[in-house]
Amino acid sequence: KNYQSLVVHQAESGVQLVQLNRPEALNALTTELLAELYDVMDVAEASDDIRVLVLTGSSKAFAAGADINEMAERDLVGMLNDPRQQYWQRITRFSKPVIAAINGYCLGGGCELAMHADILIAGRDAQFGQPEINLGIMPGAGGTQRLLRAVGKSLTMQMVLTGQPINAQQAKDAGLISEITQPELTVTRALALAKVIASKGSLAVRLAKESILKGMDTDLATGLRFERHAFTVLAGTEDRKEGIMAFKEKRQPNFSGR
Ligand code: HXC
Repeated sequence: KNYQSLVVHQAESGVQLVQLNRPEALNALTTELLAELYDVMDVAEASDDIRVLVLTGSSKAFAAGADINEMAERDLVGMLNDPRQQYWQRITRFSKPVIAAINGYCLGGGCELAMHADILIAGRDAQFGQPEINLGIMPGAGGTQRLLRAVGKSLTMQMVLTGQPINAQQAKDAGLISEITQPELTVTRALALAKVIASKGSLAVRLAKESILKGMDTDLATGLRFERHAFTVLAGTEDRKEGIMAFKEKRQPNFSGR
């Protein structure tokens, strides 16, 4: 497919690389861009050939936020009828792993988009921030909630109330990202992680992801019950038989996703 604001690189070994591509605006998120991402995820969700998505921007910016020019034209009723809400929800609903490979500015809606990913890694020069307060507004796509769960109250308050960004090292120390790379190797590293995940049993991957996300917004007992059920369900898969057999036979497993 031909997208205007995204470049989608053909899936290789189950991995699809999706690049935000609005260099003229530091990849600011327009409705069109989010709609295209919605479409990419719909296609990827249904495709057995795509197991993991890697989401990236440019060396300058993952994304510098929601598109401010577009936002300026929306009044309250426009906001209430905003189709972007469903686009964000599509990303939340996506059942396969998403890895964000971040370089440069990762701000506002861009940071919120990155936080929708399951694994975040970033180049040394990345900057994370929620600068909405500087525009007289506040985060609106999870910035107060996902950031809070990722880095805790004090740093969330600091970032959201001052609008000042943090660097990659601070983001790593706080648990927002899991690895720092050389900027030119961020995508390579993300693709390598994605390839590893894509080689696993896809049902186990899906249920493990769901279980971890469940744990982000539930109490421990409920989360443990969910985990136990997911774990039990996997007892019925071919992949479990194959995984255990391969271990016994001292060979690599060959998972079928069944
Ligand atoms: C639209 C943007 C943009 C944005 C940058 N640009 N960010 N356009 N929306 N969010 C455009 C600039 O206008 C400029 O276009 C070009 O990209 C390059 O940006 P510069 O400012 O010239 O680059 P630089 O001086 O390097 O500064 C980079 C920057 C700055 C510090 C990131 O661009 C900046 O502060 N951007 C806004 C960041 C922000 O406030 N994000 C939060 C948005 S609100 P021209 O045509 O002039 O070359 C938000 C709400 C989310 O995200 C709510 C979700 C529901």
